[in-house]
Amino acid sequence: MAGDYEIIDHTYDVVVVGAGGAGLRATFGMAEKGLNTACVTKVFPTRSHTVAAQGGVSAALGNMGEDDWRWHAYDTIKGSDWLGDQDAIEYMCREAIPSIVELEHYGVPFSRTEEGRIYQRPFGGMTTHFGEGRAQRTCAAADRTGHAILHTLYQQSLKHQAEFYIEFFAIDLIMDEDGACRGVIALELATGKIHRFRAHVVVLATGGYGRTYFSCTSAHTCTGDGAGMVLRAGLPVQDMEFIQFHPTGIYGAGCLITEGVRGEGGYLTNSDGERFMERYAPNAKDLASRDVVSRSMTVEIREGRGVGPEQDHIHLHLEHLGPEVINERLPGIAETARIFAGVDVTKEPIPVLPTVHYNMGGIPTNYRGEVVAPRDGDPDAVVPGLMAIGEAGCVSVHGANRLGSNSLLDLVVFGRSAAIRAAELVDEAGANHRPLPADSAEPALARLDRLRNANGSEPTARIRDRMQRTMQNYAAVFRTGETLEEGCKRIEEIYASFENVSVSDRSLIWNTDLVETMELENLLANAVTSVQSARNRTESRGAHAREDHSERDDENWMKHTVTWMDRSGNVTIDYRPVHMNTLTDEMEVIPPKKRVY
Ligand code: FUM
Repeated sequence: MAGDYEIIDHTYDVVVVGAGGAGLRATFGMAEKGLNTACVTKVFPTRSHTVAAQGGVSAALGNMGEDDWRWHAYDTIKGSDWLGDQDAIEYMCREAIPSIVELEHYGVPFSRTEEGRIYQRPFGGMTTHFGEGRAQRTCAAADRTGHAILHTLYQQSLKHQAEFYIEFFAIDLIMDEDGACRGVIALELATGKIHRFRAHVVVLATGGYGRTYFSCTSAHTCTGDGAGMVLRAGLPVQDMEFIQFHPTGIYGAGCLITEGVRGEGGYLTNSDGERFMERYAPNAKDLASRDVVSRSMTVEIREGRGVGPEQDHIHLHLEHLGPEVINERLPGIAETARIFAGVDVTKEPIPVLPTVHYNMGGIPTNYRGEVVAPRDGDPDAVVPGLMAIGEAGCVSVHGANRLGSNSLLDLVVFGRSAAIRAAELVDEAGANHRPLPADSAEPALARLDRLRNANGSEPTARIRDRMQRTMQNYAAVFRTGETLEEGCKRIEEIYASFENVSVSDRSLIWNTDLVETMELENLLANAVTSVQSARNRTESRGAHAREDHSERDDENWMKHTVTWMDRSGNVTIDYRPVHMNTLTDEMEVIPPKKRVY
């Protein structure tokens, strides 16, 4: 066996990796169903990145005007630019309503209407009557909705006796020779001990890979660890080229300024003081979908109408809303703008710029949270014992572009559905666990050994910086064949340079350099698969905007990209069909049409 490690063994029905909104909703749901459930997390649960989600969670409750989950499904399909799987979208939008009512009953302190109902605000791309009117569908707890949800779900998990392994870094999955997942190996950061978790089901809820970019709204912990583990296990990732730029990151700092600002009546202007979104999206204006707004802002800046001395950003106004609305509905962003932009939002606009915010791609799953991988001619074959949810997964409800406030929804709906499915799977598996493969810890420990003893000449931080700048410049809001080709070449070189990484300290106890190096290896796998998938897709769809192929091409490209990567960084790309079917006869399939706002 690699190295000389002390291994502590655990056996659970289910092990959830990650304690953000999806991980905690699954953990709590599984524990509530009586499953023996562990949650392994690299940060304290309430520090997970969901805590930063601001504007709200969508559900067609109809508290502030008429609404219907089918309109929500239509908006989501259109928002996805027809790359979303319609069965999963139907499931999400239908189940949104009971899922949010449940959250309220669990204790989420939503803002209220005068009648005491959950307050709902408009968000981009959310309409009534299949695109005719404007919906107020996004349920908000002021501008701290993620914080409110995360704390409630953690409390519920503790109440139901889920067991937490906090500040444990998952190194690799345990796979058996039949291709089933049997558990996960993790490093306990405080002691340096190795823990082997055996489980009927492992659920990856490890979040996105925003930190492949230089400027993003994601926490430093968003390092695509789930996709890294999945790729090393020989399984594919899906739709990695679809990376969302949120229109309003604070210029220079990258911090999120919620779309809820525009939902409450805020608007964007260029250097002429013009509300330019009226030209690009005459109906939805500032509340068009995020890809449309981010591209419009980028065009304004490119054409010389940016604001500031360098004319390189845009202004977001909310002064006209008045202190009362700002204090009641948007207190968090007033504070963020003061700290990070030095702006008093009651008096001046916030300087903003499109900033990487969300990954539509990830580990492919079905709507029950089970990981799928093409096998024996079946594009949707289930990988036994493995689930993925939240931003780590690609279910795919967001397709090529996610609508704002559908992310928190994805977390709670599919965290919940994973709990329902896991209960069935554990029941089928029975009381006894099969013995683990003899070398179950070997791949993870070999990886740990290799990185711990890495004594090359490239510090982790330097490789990471090069990767982040390359992704920022070569896989941006607008792309061309040329920029993507150059991006692939550079990312390949950076991937190869990881062979020469140096880790300063051999210790296993609180070795942040080692942990950041393991995270960087995961990030690099995400970066390689993203740029290569982007180079291959010669059309524009949602967040993937090719200037050299500016139209959507349904005939050739209405399909999901499925990407594998071997240990040397060689990539294999295949495609699987978009699900153009619904689960029930309560909704009809929405055929593709031109996407205008
Ligand atoms: O703008 C926001 O509040 C972000 C919401 C989201 O990404 O869903």
